[in-house]
Amino acid sequence: MRMIELISRKRDGYEHTTEELDYLVRGITDGSIPDYQLAAWCMAVYFQGMTPREARHLARKMAASGDQIDLSSIPGVKIDKHSTGGVGDKTSLVVAPMVAAAGVPVCKMSGRGLGHTGGTIDKLEAIPGYRTELPIAEFFQQVRTVGIGIVGQSGNLVPADQQLYALRDVTGTVESIPLIATSIMSKKLASGADGFVLDVKVGNGAFLNTQQEAERLAELMVAIGKRAGRQPVAVLSSMEQPLGRAIGNALEVREAIATLAGEGPADLKELSLVLGAQMLILAGAAADEETARRKLEAILTSGQALRFFEKWMEAQGGDPSITSHPERLPTATLVRKVLSNAGGYVSGWDTEALGLTAMRLGAGRERKNDPIDHGVGLIIEKKIGDRVVAGEAIAQVYARSEEQAVRAAQAIRSALRLSPLPPTPAPLILGYII
Ligand code: URA
Repeated sequence: MRMIELISRKRDGYEHTTEELDYLVRGITDGSIPDYQLAAWCMAVYFQGMTPREARHLARKMAASGDQIDLSSIPGVKIDKHSTGGVGDKTSLVVAPMVAAAGVPVCKMSGRGLGHTGGTIDKLEAIPGYRTELPIAEFFQQVRTVGIGIVGQSGNLVPADQQLYALRDVTGTVESIPLIATSIMSKKLASGADGFVLDVKVGNGAFLNTQQEAERLAELMVAIGKRAGRQPVAVLSSMEQPLGRAIGNALEVREAIATLAGEGPADLKELSLVLGAQMLILAGAAADEETARRKLEAILTSGQALRFFEKWMEAQGGDPSITSHPERLPTATLVRKVLSNAGGYVSGWDTEALGLTAMRLGAGRERKNDPIDHGVGLIIEKKIGDRVVAGEAIAQVYARSEEQAVRAAQAIRSALRLSPLPPTPAPLILGYII
């Protein structure tokens, strides 16, 4: 078999055989397929797509390309949560302790941010002392005794995806439904959970901008998960504006803590309850959505979720006192208000531009190994539907230099869409695929 044949067949719209896909994954993993041929194949997939059969087989083969985690030594049904990538999305920091406090073990391997989107591990590393790398036995022991653990992905988890994703990132082929679905689901299958709640983001801050595309992605991911004998559920949620108000690692940890204390932004709380409820249902800890929500709301309002967050921090080396002393989180001291030069109602935000602005301040990385600054970021003061008066603050910038702050303020002003009339409110939750 030769790679040139696979490229030509995909270019001409043929379906790959299982032998071809096996050859492909082997060649990606052992490095025998050169990057230029792999890039050409990714572009062919971008234009021609894949059949569900191809995507299912590719995801399973990729999952088997490296370590596969066996969670069977941890009692109970293990449910993972995954977001397809958004701006200001710190739901894992809220959902994980909330669900764990309800008795469902949370045993999660998370990723880092790339480009305009953030990643849970970068946010957790903003917490002084938090250990994102634990030996696997210690990690399992922590989940068994405390009920919660979140670590970075092991170095050898789905090496085929590590190669492919790095290449897609520089060849304009990230935004391909089958490539996103196989990338995400291969990692979910390899990390061993019994079920997954997939938060599929839709909108101008997500990889996919339309509901139709996001539904196709969700359907494909759910089909891959079911075929592999797991229990997947996808929730489609809006990414037409940042989730909550904070963008940037330590700022987002602060906002997650505020939400656990019952004082967070409404959209972050709502999405956390929706995703958490699905996790409880999949784990068999609640019979239906209403029961699950009631349980989680009680956990939030009683302070149990916040206490659980502290317990988790203690177990994993993080400073638990940040819940009462958030100033102990790293924070840039140069804080500038961004004033609007016009008035009206916020009809939208260019969410990707806001994510890129935070990234350029140092909150994210353009390339995989770029260092990040946990203390910088943005607070978006106005959400869609809010009224803005000319001269009023629409955001705050946390920066390291005046020059950076001025550049960020300009980008934020350009990302704001104002209309003379209040816009019709759009829903946060756009649907479920089960
Ligand atoms: N997240 C992933 O892990 N892979 C993709 O392709 C896109 C988002």
